[in-house]
Amino acid sequence: MTDRVQQQQPRPGIIELGFGEPDLTLLPTPIIEQCCRDALARHGRSMLAYGLNEGPAHLRRLIAERVTRREGRGADLETLIVTGGNSHGFAHILDRFIDHDDVVFVEQPTYSLGLWIVRDRGVSMEPIDIDEDGLIVGLLEERLAAVRRDGRRPRLLYTVPTFHNPAGVSLAVERRRRLVELAAAEDLLIVEDDAYRELWYDEPAPASLWSLAPAGTVLRLGSFSKVIAPGLRTGWLTAAREQVERYADCGLMESGGHVSWFSTFVTAQFLAEGLFDDHVAMLRSVYAERRDALCAALQRELPAGCRFVRPAGGFFIRVVLPRGVSATRLLPVAESHGVAFVPGTRNQLAGGDDSLRLGFTLYEPAELREGAARLAAAVEQAAARR
Ligand SMILES: Cc1ncc(COP(=O)(O)O)c(C=O)c1O
Repeated sequence: MTDRVQQQQPRPGIIELGFGEPDLTLLPTPIIEQCCRDALARHGRSMLAYGLNEGPAHLRRLIAERVTRREGRGADLETLIVTGGNSHGFAHILDRFIDHDDVVFVEQPTYSLGLWIVRDRGVSMEPIDIDEDGLIVGLLEERLAAVRRDGRRPRLLYTVPTFHNPAGVSLAVERRRRLVELAAAEDLLIVEDDAYRELWYDEPAPASLWSLAPAGTVLRLGSFSKVIAPGLRTGWLTAAREQVERYADCGLMESGGHVSWFSTFVTAQFLAEGLFDDHVAMLRSVYAERRDALCAALQRELPAGCRFVRPAGGFFIRVVLPRGVSATRLLPVAESHGVAFVPGTRNQLAGGDDSLRLGFTLYEPAELREGAARLAAAVEQAAARR
């Protein structure tokens, strides 16, 4: 046991480009303090009671209005509920919608902890490759047919179509349409992990799968972790009415109430006071500058044979290494140069050692440039040893 007070703690002397979290110095701490006071003054002890399974109506209404305004598809109190963040939301969807012998499709690569959440449930997974335009829908179609031929039931696809973790790419608009059509025709549920939608740097995010699909095809998870604070454990789900009911009507919530009841009031206060848009605009401008700094430095510094896609939003850049350089073997070399990353093996069921993930949110541009230079030196050293 240690007396750590947060999940990830940067190591002295290392530029931690492996971390994938908001810059803690940008968390709106004084505003949250005020929101707690204001919310308690307004709602009193009901904030400390067992909560409603679906979250407080005033927060659901605020989120539903925002979603409806921005996405052109209506969400309301029947089709939107508050979750305990995307991790909890995804785990809970698996618990409520999946049988043990179902097959879950995951992107390759995908969010490493999304893989872990599925693995925890002992469900069988099928990886589907992505490219610079996101999930290769034709491959999904082929695998769906193959799974059915094997007598197994394809049930669900977990996807991060917008500002992907770890690849930084977004699913092309035409593929979005094909994907939702395919899923509807095949009775495949899509879980759309939309954690990064608000963090676009060039132009607003493409339409969500949820907004394009027939009702009941897509369960879309949105999160306040990256745009207010991960410690609030608050997010939301848009889905069909029956799916929302199935999500909320269960022993876990009947027993404990909503998983983040207190925080949901604080989040609602943040939105109701009109603070959200300005805060997100500030984050976008700071993170865009950091994205630009790291991309420009990587472009300049990395040796021949490295490739990456400049992300239009989100937190991450995935670098494909020169042929024969292993990301897992590179990591200790990079750490000895004072920089760290996540090896691509973490983001795949198998393989992935040819790539690594860098996050650009935690450091000022000058440190990011230094990180890129250190990484380039490490890659050159590893490439020379091949
Ligand atoms: C794709 C993706 N989904 C979910 C999460 C976690 O979301 P939450 O904090 O809402 O549980 C992350 C955080 O890194 C993420 O990158």
